[in-house]
Amino acid sequence: MSNDVNLPEKWEADYARGTDGWDLSGPTPAFKRIAASGRFKPGRMIVPGAGRGYDAREFSRHGFQVTAVDFTSHAIQEMQRLVDPAAPIEILQSDIFALAESFNNSFDYALEYTCFCAIDPKRRADYADLITRLLKPNGIYIDLAFPLDGRAGGPPFAVTEAEVFNLFTARGFELISREKPADSVSPRKNAEELFVFQKTKTSEE
Ligand SMILES: C[S@@+](CC[C@H](N)C(=O)[O-])C[C@H]1O[C@@H](n2cnc3c(N)ncnc32)[C@H](O)[C@@H]1O
Repeated sequence: MSNDVNLPEKWEADYARGTDGWDLSGPTPAFKRIAASGRFKPGRMIVPGAGRGYDAREFSRHGFQVTAVDFTSHAIQEMQRLVDPAAPIEILQSDIFALAESFNNSFDYALEYTCFCAIDPKRRADYADLITRLLKPNGIYIDLAFPLDGRAGGPPFAVTEAEVFNLFTARGFELISREKPADSVSPRKNAEELFVFQKTKTSEE
């Protein structure tokens, strides 16, 4: 059995064995709060590595047009099973790194939670390039960065605030806000931070 995080087989095996301990069985509290807050006006949103799609459906419930991407059949079947007519989402089975160029400059928002820490850390610059190309000019990257605890090994592979900041500011993003959510689920308290970046400069500038 493959243990290579770059391959869907590794993640399929986690779903099949029930070693999908990342799954919160519902929307992430910080996302539930900000989706309801009215701070972000509804628009087109992409959710890479969406898993069972709780966060994707939560934003849809608040009027966002959401595309949820995952490369495992298991996650796709679960999103199909959990379909909520009150929270329709587009479900796309694809490796995020293989998303067609026709998606470039298509999204007002990209929502990140536990996908960045799941991919091979060597691909983090590719991930930042991906988000950059998917977002429209002035698009917003909402990133609940986890785990900020310096742990060894993974997945989840440790993330640092400086790494997130440097990856995105180097690509023309401006940090709009950051907060340590008070409503993180208890095992993740003090190990995550919510960053909001805006793609204020494009490579043509
Ligand atoms: C740790 S889980 C997180 C799922 C979801 N974000 C959540 O919080 O419940 C990571 C998910 O990303 C998916 N994934 C990992 N690498 C991927 C890739 N390169 N392309 C698409 N999906 C990927 C896995 O299949 C898995 O469903």
